[in-house]
Amino acid sequence: ASNANTGKEKTLAMIKPDGLLGNYTDEVKNVIINSGFIIFKEMILQLDEDRAASFYAEHSLKSFFPNLIKYMTSGPVLVMILEKENAVADWRALIGPTDSKKAKITHPHSIRALCGIDSGKNCVHGSDSPQSAQREISFFFQEESAGQAVIQHDEL
Ligand code: TYD
Ligand code: MG
Repeated sequence: ASNANTGKEKTLAMIKPDGLLGNYTDEVKNVIINSGFIIFKEMILQLDEDRAASFYAEHSLKSFFPNLIKYMTSGPVLVMILEKENAVADWRALIGPTDSKKAKITHPHSIRALCGIDSGKNCVHGSDSPQSAQREISFFFQEESAGQAVIQHDEL
């Protein structure tokens, strides 16, 4: 998902309900900015069950799925398009492992160590690949093509 003009890449970040309600937004945004990301777009929204299930469709057969949907619909979330070189991998590295309990031991400076609780309530989301980033950005921001190569008029 890199942009032909700037060499920058976009990824989808999300502060999940416990992060938002726990007032971690400013702290997480500080990490984002201090790590060289630009917050290209952001939006607060409340997911309903259908929309949460659709976002996490790849996990629909997992045993944790019902709890995941309950958690993700328990309050509003903040979704952000982050932009930076290597944004997808760098944001994943910054948030740390899925299980916040493990993150506190192995990646104590990660965001999930900072504000998550366990493997379910882990405070933040990040796209796991450029392909996922494109899908997830389109999922929330319909007008964005997630950096698909688009020929600009000034290149013609
Ligand atoms: P997954 O895609 O494996 O993790 P990540 O968010 O790091 O890409 O799982 C998606 C979400 O599902 C995860 O953020 C929280 C939830 N989940 C659980 O509730 N329990 C689990 O054991 C796992 C693996 C995930
Ligand atoms: Mg994942």
